[in-house]
Amino acid sequence: MDEMKSEIRQRADAIKPYRCKNLIAVMEYPTDIKNIGTVIRNVNALGVEKTYIVDPKGTLPDDWQDMRERKSLSKPSVSAIKWSFVKRFNSTEECFDHLESNRYTSIVTSPHVKGKDNFILHEADYTQPRLAVWFGNESRGISDLAVERSDFCVSIPMFGMIESLNLGTTSGIVLYEITKQRRAYQEKYKRANRGGHNKPL
Ligand SMILES: C[S@@+](CC[C@H](N)C(=O)[O-])C[C@H]1O[C@@H](n2cnc3c(N)ncnc32)[C@H](O)[C@@H]1O
Repeated sequence: MDEMKSEIRQRADAIKPYRCKNLIAVMEYPTDIKNIGTVIRNVNALGVEKTYIVDPKGTLPDDWQDMRERKSLSKPSVSAIKWSFVKRFNSTEECFDHLESNRYTSIVTSPHVKGKDNFILHEADYTQPRLAVWFGNESRGISDLAVERSDFCVSIPMFGMIESLNLGTTSGIVLYEITKQRRAYQEKYKRANRGGHNKPL
């Protein structure tokens, strides 16, 4: 048991420098528990700090401890929910109020051109000090309110006959690009810091 604990501690210590602080993935009204699990799995695997879920129907427990014990969440996330903090909100508005009061910049994702500004995934900059990345509902997509309160909208180019990617798949692709950029940026400032400058994320 102690040996297992120390293995977990060793792994936690090894990944700590690569985790992306102040980066949150937000799911707005997700309905499919498998998608929720997949996003949490991607969040954990890619080193995103937290997941927020806008869940107006109250399908999820309020408390993270209770979520961790729910088999229906733990199984599709392959237990990632044990290691990744998840917070639920009753509405999009409540979630934005919380993010804005904590000085987070929000961006939305959509297969469509929706934002004040719109970017192809790999052409945007994701090194804002505090960033929340919003993913929309499986059928309705991202809400107008989320688009209005966000700085810009990001799309993965689509070259097939279908309109959009699956929510879980999108989260993996989008968060890969964002965490890659933020890790490179963190590394650059760590190096500069060794030389006397200091501007971490
Ligand atoms: C199945 S899609 C929703 C499709 C919906 N009909 C719409 O108009 O957006 C679920 C979510 O995945 C994300 N998504 C899917 N395809 C995307 C793409 N090509 N680029 C960016 N985000 C995408 C968005 O967050 C979207 O709200």
